[in-house]
Amino acid sequence: MSEFWNRAFDLDGRCAVITGGAAGIGLACAGLLVERGARVVLLDRDPAVVEIAAGLGTAHIGLRVDLRQIDQITRTIDTVVDRFKCIDYLVNSAGVAVLDKALDVTENAWDTTLAINLKASFFVAQACARHMLAQGGGRIVNLASQAAVIGLDRHVAYCASKAAVVGMTKVLAMEWAPHINVNAISPTIVETALGKKAWAGDLGKRARLQIPAGRFAQPEEIAGLALYLLSDAASMITGENVVIDGGYSIQ
Ligand SMILES: NC(=O)c1ccc[n+]([C@@H]2O[C@H](COP(=O)([O-])OP(=O)(O)OC[C@H]3O[C@@H](n4cnc5c(N)ncnc54)[C@H](O)[C@@H]3O)[C@@H](O)[C@H]2O)c1
Repeated sequence: MSEFWNRAFDLDGRCAVITGGAAGIGLACAGLLVERGARVVLLDRDPAVVEIAAGLGTAHIGLRVDLRQIDQITRTIDTVVDRFKCIDYLVNSAGVAVLDKALDVTENAWDTTLAINLKASFFVAQACARHMLAQGGGRIVNLASQAAVIGLDRHVAYCASKAAVVGMTKVLAMEWAPHINVNAISPTIVETALGKKAWAGDLGKRARLQIPAGRFAQPEEIAGLALYLLSDAASMITGENVVIDGGYSIQ
């Protein structure tokens, strides 16, 4: 049995594309996949992505791309295939949280949120899936959020975008089965730049009290779940939204 587990989590020679890979959850996923033997391509609009990827080792690359530009997505994924010759895994982690009361949300805030959290995730998945299907298969993990399954004050655009990511995940899992497993992960507040900014001060203290586990999550804990969903140990799981929230959404 231990041979099964060793093989299931051995990503040696596999290639992973990680959006939002320059920071937070994306970077934690990259670090863990590299530890398990994968080569990673980090896609991020932060110019530091090139150096951050190089810091993971010479086998890895970072490409600067604004995922709101759909033509840039297609070109970038073609470049990845040219350089790596395969795409086995995709982690869609790039995301933004632009928060406001529903009555105050601007068109720009709504469009930006949906463009990055939903539209970019779809078109990156589409571009990667074309290559995955041609090579015989792959696995995709989309970062949704607890905001996909519960309402949160000032999160109307964010909640809408993340609920849509869960809906999108189910359809992609259905259409691309049995070749590509597609799952979503829905974390509670994670201590990254995005999480700390959205939940600073008293707001964060109150939120922590509402989480039965009594704390926020760490990016490495989300990476562990992503590794599991990408691994062969999870090959019977597809179209699922796995909530990792210390019990927040059970109340
Ligand atoms: N941190 C949390 O509390 C939390 C909770 C639930 C879900 N999530 C989700 O997890 C994902 C990762 O969040 P995080 O906390 O690591 O955020 P983060 O802000 O730490 O990192 C997000 C990364 O995405 C990149 N990015 C943003 N817009 C981009 C664009 N247009 N093109 C290319 N790159 C872009 C940023 O440059 C950044 O490096 C997001 O989808 C977020 O919604 C986060």
